[in-house]
Amino acid sequence: MAKQATSVTDAVTACASGRINIIGEHTDYNDGFVLPAAIDRKMTVQASRNGSSSTVRLTARATQEMFSFDLVNFFPVEKGWQNYVMGVVSELQKLGGAISGFDAEFGGDIPIGSGMSSSAALECCFALALNELFGLGFHKWQLIEASQRAEHNFVGIKCGIMDQFASIMGKKDNMMLLDCRSLDFQYFPLELGDYQLLLLNTNVSHTLASSEYNIRRAECELGVHILQKEYPGIKNLRDITVEQVEANLPNMPEHIFRRCLHVVTENQRVLDATKSLLTGDFKMLGKLMYQSHFSLQSDYEVSCPELDFLVHQTLEKDYIPGSRMMGGGFGGCTISIVEKDRASEFIEEASTAYRNRFGIDLTPIEVAIGDGATVIQSQTKPQNARLFQ
Ligand code: GLA
Repeated sequence: MAKQATSVTDAVTACASGRINIIGEHTDYNDGFVLPAAIDRKMTVQASRNGSSSTVRLTARATQEMFSFDLVNFFPVEKGWQNYVMGVVSELQKLGGAISGFDAEFGGDIPIGSGMSSSAALECCFALALNELFGLGFHKWQLIEASQRAEHNFVGIKCGIMDQFASIMGKKDNMMLLDCRSLDFQYFPLELGDYQLLLLNTNVSHTLASSEYNIRRAECELGVHILQKEYPGIKNLRDITVEQVEANLPNMPEHIFRRCLHVVTENQRVLDATKSLLTGDFKMLGKLMYQSHFSLQSDYEVSCPELDFLVHQTLEKDYIPGSRMMGGGFGGCTISIVEKDRASEFIEEASTAYRNRFGIDLTPIEVAIGDGATVIQSQTKPQNARLFQ
């Protein structure tokens, strides 16, 4: 008698996106609001079962660098892409995912260290591919959170949820307003009229980025701890007003005060910017972007001379309503809103000025808003050749 044929997924190709963020920086791990979108630049992985019970073999397409590890016993390496992948595997295993040996090759077109979240895209494309390859059945939200925890536990950066969220949930031509506390979110079309988004990659990535990131997070926690003495009901900087922060200046170190002030004002800017976008008030949106930048520069202290210089280049240009640093800081890109007709003129001017000042070429990037992570291809084969007898 013929048994019912079963099949097993044998090979999967999946991709996940980089992201931009219109506004809302360093608010995500403070239970605040962010306004990101996935972009048309991605990381892609091709993964296939290799028949072994526990051997994983990885190849980075761009450099042909290879790395192998055993699924039963693996640890973070000192530094490198390996940690993002092993971190995801480890978190999926913790959720009960049964993963056996596989080979995978990955690559993409998101510039590394650009503040466009190539690392989240790497985590998310692996999370999605392994979910499909091994039929793990995890929901998108579990993949988002597993990818975030991979970064905490294997990479050592206590990041918020924005990047992994945008990488997986992004929708073509849409921004997303995300409440990082409730994880409620809303899509809405990005309609910029005569304007366009323009990223300028400083092509610098200062080594402070990861250490200072965790320090900022700890500083915010200290701020909450101090404020809780006055307002015992608060859980996070999300729960406090600017007036309450200001009233507590005498109770906290001055730099902690400034960190709190940034987060509280930035949350309000995200909500105001969303309204401006929806009503087409690009002048107001731009104003909020500048306020965000100066707050990140002076109060949160995560900018750098290269980012400040490029934002400065946009000031007093009536065809650029707003500009700011984007992402974690200490390098990467600025994001600006520029009149479409004058974008190339600005790129030329800024590139020359930047080269003269720093001796470095910047890279202009005109991003399009794309879809989030997706399984591109999934191949199955019969599980047992002797099924039909
Ligand atoms: C990095 C982190 C995000 C977020 C931003 C700053 O991209 O991964 O979680 O905190 O910095 O907004």
